[in-house]
Amino acid sequence: MSIIERSQVQSVVPTLPASLYHDPALFARERKEIFAREWLLFGRSDQLRNPGDFLTGTIIGYPVILVRQTDGTLRGFHNVCRHRAAMLTQEECGHMQGGVIRCPYHSWTYDLDGALARSPGFGAAKGEVDPAEWSLFPIAADEWRGLVFIRIATEGLSLVDWLGPIVPLAANYPLENQKYFSEKNRDVAVDWKAYGENYLECYHCPSMHPGLCESLDISRYTIDSYPEQGLFHLYGPKRDGGMTDGLYFYRFPFLMLNLYEWGSSIATVEPLGAGRLRHINWYLFSDVSLAKAEENARSAAWSAQIITEDLDIITGVQRNLETGIYDRGILSPRKERAVKAFQDMVRAALPGLEG
Ligand code: FES
Ligand SMILES: [Fe+2]
Repeated sequence: MSIIERSQVQSVVPTLPASLYHDPALFARERKEIFAREWLLFGRSDQLRNPGDFLTGTIIGYPVILVRQTDGTLRGFHNVCRHRAAMLTQEECGHMQGGVIRCPYHSWTYDLDGALARSPGFGAAKGEVDPAEWSLFPIAADEWRGLVFIRIATEGLSLVDWLGPIVPLAANYPLENQKYFSEKNRDVAVDWKAYGENYLECYHCPSMHPGLCESLDISRYTIDSYPEQGLFHLYGPKRDGGMTDGLYFYRFPFLMLNLYEWGSSIATVEPLGAGRLRHINWYLFSDVSLAKAEENARSAAWSAQIITEDLDIITGVQRNLETGIYDRGILSPRKERAVKAFQDMVRAALPGLEG
Protein backbone atom coordinates (compact mmCIF):
# COMPACT_ATOMS: atom_id res chain seq x y z
CA MET A 1 0.00 0.00 0.00
CA SER A 2 1.45 3.40 -0.95
CA ILE A 3 1.88 6.13 1.64
CA ILE A 4 -0.90 8.15 0.03
CA GLU A 5 -3.30 5.22 0.08
CA ARG A 6 -2.41 4.48 3.65
CA SER A 7 -2.89 8.07 4.79
CA GLN A 8 -6.25 8.13 3.06
CA VAL A 9 -7.29 4.95 4.79
CA GLN A 10 -6.07 6.31 8.08
CA SER A 11 -7.97 9.53 7.65
CA VAL A 12 -11.28 7.71 7.33
CA VAL A 13 -12.90 8.76 10.58
CA PRO A 14 -15.98 7.52 12.36
CA THR A 15 -19.14 9.60 12.60
CA LEU A 16 -20.41 10.73 15.99
CA PRO A 17 -22.27 8.00 17.94
CA ALA A 18 -25.97 7.83 17.08
CA SER A 19 -26.99 8.44 20.68
CA LEU A 20 -25.71 12.02 20.49
CA TYR A 21 -28.49 12.92 18.06
CA HIS A 22 -31.40 12.24 20.40
CA ASP A 23 -30.12 12.61 23.94
CA PRO A 24 -32.10 15.13 26.04
CA ALA A 25 -29.21 15.45 28.52
CA LEU A 26 -26.83 16.31 25.70
CA PHE A 27 -29.32 18.78 24.27
CA ALA A 28 -29.44 20.52 27.66
CA ARG A 29 -25.65 20.90 27.42
CA GLU A 30 -25.78 22.08 23.80
CA ARG A 31 -28.34 24.70 24.71
CA LYS A 32 -26.23 26.15 27.51
CA GLU A 33 -22.70 25.48 26.29
CA ILE A 34 -23.15 26.15 22.56
CA PHE A 35 -26.30 28.08 21.70
CA ALA A 36 -26.40 30.39 24.73
CA ARG A 37 -22.78 31.41 24.03
CA GLU A 38 -23.02 32.15 20.32
CA TRP A 39 -24.66 34.97 18.41
CA LEU A 40 -27.98 33.77 17.03
CA LEU A 41 -29.77 35.34 14.10
CA PHE A 42 -33.08 36.56 15.51
CA GLY A 43 -34.71 39.07 13.20
CA ARG A 44 -34.26 41.89 10.74
CA SER A 45 -33.64 45.54 11.44
CA ASP A 46 -36.74 46.46 9.41
CA GLN A 47 -38.88 44.71 12.03
CA LEU A 48 -38.03 47.38 14.63
CA ARG A 49 -37.04 50.61 12.94
CA ASN A 50 -38.05 53.35 15.38
CA PRO A 51 -37.21 54.09 19.02
CA GLY A 52 -39.65 52.16 21.20
CA ASP A 53 -40.29 49.45 18.58
CA PHE A 54 -39.89 45.94 19.89
CA LEU A 55 -39.55 42.40 18.63
CA THR A 56 -40.07 39.27 20.73
CA GLY A 57 -39.61 35.58 20.25
CA THR A 58 -38.47 32.41 21.90
CA ILE A 59 -35.09 31.16 20.86
CA ILE A 60 -33.61 27.88 22.10
CA GLY A 61 -36.26 27.96 24.79
CA TYR A 62 -35.57 31.49 26.07
CA PRO A 63 -38.33 34.09 25.62
CA VAL A 64 -36.56 37.34 24.73
CA ILE A 65 -37.47 40.87 23.77
CA LEU A 66 -35.49 43.39 21.73
CA VAL A 67 -36.17 47.09 21.99
CA ARG A 68 -34.97 49.92 19.74
CA GLN A 69 -33.46 52.62 21.94
CA THR A 70 -33.83 56.37 21.55
CA ASP A 71 -30.22 56.54 20.29
CA GLY A 72 -31.06 54.01 17.56
CA THR A 73 -29.16 51.09 19.07
CA LEU A 74 -30.76 47.82 20.11
CA ARG A 75 -31.02 46.31 23.54
CA GLY A 76 -32.17 42.85 24.38
CA PHE A 77 -33.68 41.37 27.53
CA HIS A 78 -35.14 38.16 28.76
CA ASN A 79 -38.87 38.61 28.36
CA VAL A 80 -39.52 38.25 32.07
CA CYS A 81 -40.61 40.83 34.60
CA ARG A 82 -38.44 41.02 37.68
CA HIS A 83 -41.49 41.19 39.99
CA ARG A 84 -43.22 37.84 39.51
CA ALA A 85 -41.98 36.61 36.15
CA ALA A 86 -44.75 37.74 33.81
CA MET A 87 -43.93 38.13 30.14
CA LEU A 88 -43.46 41.82 29.42
CA THR A 89 -45.50 41.40 26.28
CA GLN A 90 -46.81 38.45 24.36
CA GLU A 91 -47.07 40.35 21.10
CA GLU A 92 -44.53 39.43 18.43
CA CYS A 93 -43.71 43.00 17.59
CA GLY A 94 -45.03 46.49 18.10
CA HIS A 95 -44.29 49.76 19.80
CA MET A 96 -43.82 50.45 23.51
CA GLN A 97 -46.45 53.07 24.26
CA GLY A 98 -45.23 56.05 26.24
CA GLY A 99 -41.60 55.13 25.66
CA VAL A 100 -41.58 52.61 28.51
CA ILE A 101 -41.85 48.85 28.92
CA ARG A 102 -44.86 48.25 31.15
CA CYS A 103 -45.50 44.81 32.55
CA PRO A 104 -49.16 43.93 32.02
CA TYR A 105 -49.44 41.99 35.32
CA HIS A 106 -48.94 44.60 38.09
CA SER A 107 -47.68 47.49 35.98
CA TRP A 108 -44.06 47.59 36.96
CA THR A 109 -42.55 49.94 34.42
CA TYR A 110 -39.08 49.87 32.91
CA ASP A 111 -37.27 52.41 30.77
CA LEU A 112 -36.39 51.26 27.26
CA ASP A 113 -32.89 50.45 28.50
CA GLY A 114 -34.34 48.01 31.05
CA ALA A 115 -33.93 50.15 34.17
CA LEU A 116 -36.81 49.87 36.64
CA ALA A 117 -38.70 53.17 36.58
CA ARG A 118 -41.81 52.44 38.67
CA SER A 119 -42.98 49.68 40.98
CA PRO A 120 -46.44 50.74 42.13
CA GLY A 121 -47.41 49.61 45.60
CA PHE A 122 -43.83 49.48 46.78
CA GLY A 123 -42.47 52.38 48.75
CA ALA A 124 -39.22 53.08 46.98
CA ALA A 125 -38.67 56.02 49.33
CA LYS A 126 -38.77 53.61 52.27
CA GLY A 127 -36.10 51.52 50.66
CA GLU A 128 -38.38 48.61 49.78
CA VAL A 129 -37.17 48.51 46.18
CA ASP A 130 -33.77 49.64 45.04
CA PRO A 131 -34.36 50.19 41.30
CA ALA A 132 -30.70 49.51 40.58
CA GLU A 133 -31.20 45.91 41.66
CA TRP A 134 -34.33 45.26 39.65
CA SER A 135 -33.44 46.05 36.04
CA LEU A 136 -34.53 43.63 33.32
CA PHE A 137 -32.16 40.71 32.74
CA PRO A 138 -30.03 41.75 29.78
CA ILE A 139 -28.95 39.67 26.81
CA ALA A 140 -26.54 40.80 24.07
CA ALA A 141 -28.16 42.31 20.98
CA ASP A 142 -26.62 43.84 17.88
CA GLU A 143 -27.20 44.14 14.17
CA TRP A 144 -25.12 43.75 11.07
CA ARG A 145 -26.28 45.04 7.72
CA GLY A 146 -29.96 44.68 8.43
CA LEU A 147 -29.74 41.39 10.32
CA VAL A 148 -30.46 41.35 14.05
CA PHE A 149 -28.59 38.95 16.29
CA ILE A 150 -28.88 38.12 19.98
CA ARG A 151 -26.70 36.22 22.38
CA ILE A 152 -28.00 34.89 25.68
CA ALA A 153 -24.56 35.26 27.31
CA THR A 154 -23.83 38.93 27.85
CA GLU A 155 -20.06 38.44 27.60
CA GLY A 156 -18.25 37.33 24.47
CA LEU A 157 -16.99 38.41 21.06
CA SER A 158 -18.54 41.43 19.41
CA LEU A 159 -20.90 40.50 16.58
CA VAL A 160 -18.47 41.73 13.93
CA ASP A 161 -15.62 39.71 15.43
CA TRP A 162 -17.89 36.69 15.62
CA LEU A 163 -18.82 37.04 11.96
CA GLY A 164 -15.09 37.30 11.25
CA PRO A 165 -14.12 36.85 7.60
CA ILE A 166 -17.77 37.07 6.52
CA VAL A 167 -17.65 40.84 7.11
CA PRO A 168 -14.95 41.71 4.53
CA LEU A 169 -15.96 38.97 2.10
CA ALA A 170 -19.57 40.16 2.03
CA ALA A 171 -18.67 43.84 1.84
CA ASN A 172 -19.63 44.17 -1.82
CA TYR A 173 -22.95 42.37 -1.50
CA PRO A 174 -25.72 44.95 -1.17
CA LEU A 175 -27.51 43.35 1.77
CA GLU A 176 -28.97 46.63 3.00
CA ASN A 177 -30.70 47.16 -0.33
CA GLN A 178 -32.32 43.76 -0.30
CA LYS A 179 -35.83 43.58 1.07
CA TYR A 180 -37.72 40.81 2.76
CA PHE A 181 -39.83 38.93 0.23
CA SER A 182 -40.97 35.70 1.88
CA GLU A 183 -40.04 33.01 4.33
CA LYS A 184 -40.54 29.31 4.73
CA ASN A 185 -40.42 27.79 8.20
CA ARG A 186 -40.63 24.11 8.99
CA ASP A 187 -40.49 22.11 12.22
CA VAL A 188 -38.96 18.72 11.60
CA ALA A 189 -37.85 15.70 13.61
CA VAL A 190 -34.17 16.12 12.80
CA ASP A 191 -31.31 16.95 15.14
CA TRP A 192 -29.54 20.22 14.33
CA LYS A 193 -26.23 18.37 14.03
CA ALA A 194 -27.63 15.99 11.42
CA TYR A 195 -28.80 19.03 9.47
CA GLY A 196 -25.44 20.77 9.72
CA GLU A 197 -23.61 17.65 8.59
CA ASN A 198 -25.86 17.30 5.59
CA TYR A 199 -25.36 20.94 4.64
CA LEU A 200 -21.60 20.60 4.84
CA GLU A 201 -21.10 17.96 2.18
CA CYS A 202 -22.11 17.74 -1.43
CA TYR A 203 -21.30 14.03 -1.62
CA HIS A 204 -25.07 13.57 -1.66
CA CYS A 205 -25.73 16.19 -4.35
CA PRO A 206 -25.57 13.95 -7.45
CA SER A 207 -27.96 11.47 -5.85
CA MET A 208 -30.28 13.91 -4.11
CA HIS A 209 -30.34 17.22 -5.99
CA PRO A 210 -30.88 16.83 -9.73
CA GLY A 211 -31.99 20.47 -10.00
CA LEU A 212 -28.85 21.76 -8.30
CA CYS A 213 -26.62 19.56 -10.44
CA GLU A 214 -28.16 20.98 -13.62
CA SER A 215 -26.80 24.42 -12.79
CA LEU A 216 -23.68 23.63 -10.79
CA ASP A 217 -20.63 21.51 -11.60
CA ILE A 218 -20.81 19.48 -8.45
CA SER A 219 -17.53 17.70 -9.15
CA ARG A 220 -15.77 21.00 -8.40
CA TYR A 221 -17.91 22.00 -5.40
CA THR A 222 -15.67 22.69 -2.41
CA ILE A 223 -16.08 23.63 1.23
CA ASP A 224 -13.27 25.30 3.19
CA SER A 225 -13.39 24.94 6.97
CA TYR A 226 -12.03 27.55 9.40
CA PRO A 227 -12.31 25.83 12.79
CA GLU A 228 -10.92 28.79 14.74
CA GLN A 229 -13.64 31.05 13.38
CA GLY A 230 -16.41 28.43 13.43
CA LEU A 231 -16.81 29.11 9.76
CA PHE A 232 -17.34 27.20 6.53
CA HIS A 233 -17.00 28.86 3.13
CA LEU A 234 -18.75 26.96 0.34
CA TYR A 235 -17.96 27.42 -3.36
CA GLY A 236 -20.44 26.75 -6.17
CA PRO A 237 -18.75 26.34 -9.58
CA LYS A 238 -20.94 26.80 -12.65
CA ARG A 239 -21.13 24.25 -15.45
CA ASP A 240 -19.44 26.65 -17.88
CA GLY A 241 -16.26 26.60 -15.81
CA GLY A 242 -16.82 29.88 -13.92
CA MET A 243 -17.98 30.43 -10.36
CA THR A 244 -21.47 31.58 -9.45
CA ASP A 245 -21.62 35.14 -8.22
CA GLY A 246 -22.89 33.81 -4.92
CA LEU A 247 -21.15 33.84 -1.56
CA TYR A 248 -22.08 30.91 0.68
CA PHE A 249 -21.31 30.51 4.37
CA TYR A 250 -22.22 28.26 7.24
CA ARG A 251 -21.40 29.91 10.58
CA PHE A 252 -21.41 27.46 13.48
CA PRO A 253 -23.64 26.59 15.13
CA PHE A 254 -26.62 27.24 12.85
CA LEU A 255 -26.46 30.16 10.43
CA MET A 256 -26.51 29.77 6.66
CA LEU A 257 -25.95 32.79 4.43
CA ASN A 258 -26.32 32.56 0.67
CA LEU A 259 -25.64 36.00 -0.73
CA TYR A 260 -26.04 37.22 -4.31
CA GLU A 261 -26.04 40.64 -5.93
CA TRP A 262 -29.76 40.39 -6.54
CA GLY A 263 -30.96 38.65 -3.40
CA SER A 264 -30.16 36.43 -0.45
CA SER A 265 -31.34 33.24 1.14
CA ILE A 266 -30.71 33.33 4.86
CA ALA A 267 -31.49 30.32 7.02
CA THR A 268 -31.09 28.95 10.52
CA VAL A 269 -31.80 25.59 12.11
CA GLU A 270 -32.88 26.33 15.65
CA PRO A 271 -32.90 23.22 17.83
CA LEU A 272 -36.25 22.75 19.56
CA GLY A 273 -35.02 19.77 21.56
CA ALA A 274 -32.95 16.65 21.05
CA GLY A 275 -33.71 15.43 17.54
CA ARG A 276 -36.01 18.34 16.64
CA LEU A 277 -35.37 21.59 14.83
CA ARG A 278 -37.06 24.56 13.22
CA HIS A 279 -35.70 25.44 9.81
CA ILE A 280 -36.30 29.11 9.14
CA ASN A 281 -35.49 30.47 5.70
CA TRP A 282 -35.87 34.10 4.62
CA TYR A 283 -35.74 35.17 1.01
CA LEU A 284 -34.61 38.72 0.32
CA PHE A 285 -34.48 40.41 -3.07
CA SER A 286 -33.22 43.76 -4.33
CA ASP A 287 -36.37 44.18 -6.38
CA VAL A 288 -39.56 43.15 -4.60
CA SER A 289 -41.88 45.04 -6.95
CA LEU A 290 -45.04 43.37 -8.19
CA ALA A 291 -43.46 42.96 -11.63
CA LYS A 292 -40.77 40.76 -10.10
CA ALA A 293 -43.03 38.82 -7.71
CA GLU A 294 -43.39 35.76 -9.89
CA GLU A 295 -39.69 35.51 -10.64
CA ASN A 296 -38.82 35.97 -6.96
CA ALA A 297 -41.35 33.33 -5.93
CA ARG A 298 -39.85 30.91 -8.48
CA SER A 299 -36.36 31.54 -7.14
CA ALA A 300 -37.48 31.01 -3.51
CA ALA A 301 -39.36 27.84 -4.49
CA TRP A 302 -36.29 26.50 -6.30
CA SER A 303 -34.21 26.98 -3.18
CA ALA A 304 -36.93 25.56 -0.90
CA GLN A 305 -37.12 22.45 -3.09
CA ILE A 306 -33.46 21.67 -2.36
CA ILE A 307 -34.15 21.99 1.37
CA THR A 308 -37.15 19.69 0.98
CA GLU A 309 -34.95 17.09 -0.72
CA ASP A 310 -32.49 17.36 2.16
CA LEU A 311 -35.12 17.21 4.89
CA ASP A 312 -36.78 14.17 3.31
CA ILE A 313 -33.62 12.11 3.51
CA ILE A 314 -32.41 13.41 6.88
CA THR A 315 -35.76 12.79 8.54
CA GLY A 316 -35.15 9.14 7.72
CA VAL A 317 -31.56 9.40 8.94
CA GLN A 318 -32.82 10.77 12.25
CA ARG A 319 -35.32 7.93 12.62
CA ASN A 320 -32.53 5.43 12.10
CA LEU A 321 -30.20 7.19 14.53
CA GLU A 322 -32.88 6.60 17.16
CA THR A 323 -33.50 2.89 16.57
CA GLY A 324 -30.41 1.47 18.27
CA ILE A 325 -29.41 -0.59 15.20
CA TYR A 326 -26.92 1.85 13.71
CA ASP A 327 -24.26 3.39 15.95
CA ARG A 328 -21.46 4.82 13.81
CA GLY A 329 -20.57 5.07 10.16
CA ILE A 330 -17.49 6.52 8.48
CA LEU A 331 -16.70 9.79 6.74
CA SER A 332 -14.98 10.08 3.37
CA PRO A 333 -11.64 11.88 3.71
CA ARG A 334 -12.27 13.49 0.32
CA LYS A 335 -15.97 14.25 0.32
CA GLU A 336 -16.86 14.71 3.99
CA ARG A 337 -13.95 16.69 5.42
CA ALA A 338 -16.19 19.59 6.45
CA VAL A 339 -18.50 17.16 8.27
CA LYS A 340 -15.49 16.05 10.30
CA ALA A 341 -14.61 19.71 10.97
CA PHE A 342 -18.19 20.36 12.08
CA GLN A 343 -18.10 17.38 14.44
CA ASP A 344 -14.78 18.64 15.81
CA MET A 345 -16.43 22.00 16.53
CA VAL A 346 -19.16 20.18 18.45
CA ARG A 347 -16.50 18.21 20.36
CA ALA A 348 -14.50 21.37 21.12
CA ALA A 349 -17.60 23.13 22.44
CA LEU A 350 -18.60 20.19 24.65
CA PRO A 351 -15.53 18.95 26.49
CA GLY A 352 -15.69 15.32 27.52
CA LEU A 353 -18.22 14.42 24.85
CA GLU A 354 -18.40 10.68 24.33
CA GLY A 355 -17.12 9.92 20.82
S1 FES B 1 -45.04 40.38 37.30
FE1 FES B 1 -44.64 42.20 36.31
S2 FES B 1 -45.46 43.69 37.56
FE2 FES B 1 -45.86 41.85 38.61
FE1 LIG C 1 -28.41 18.85 0.18
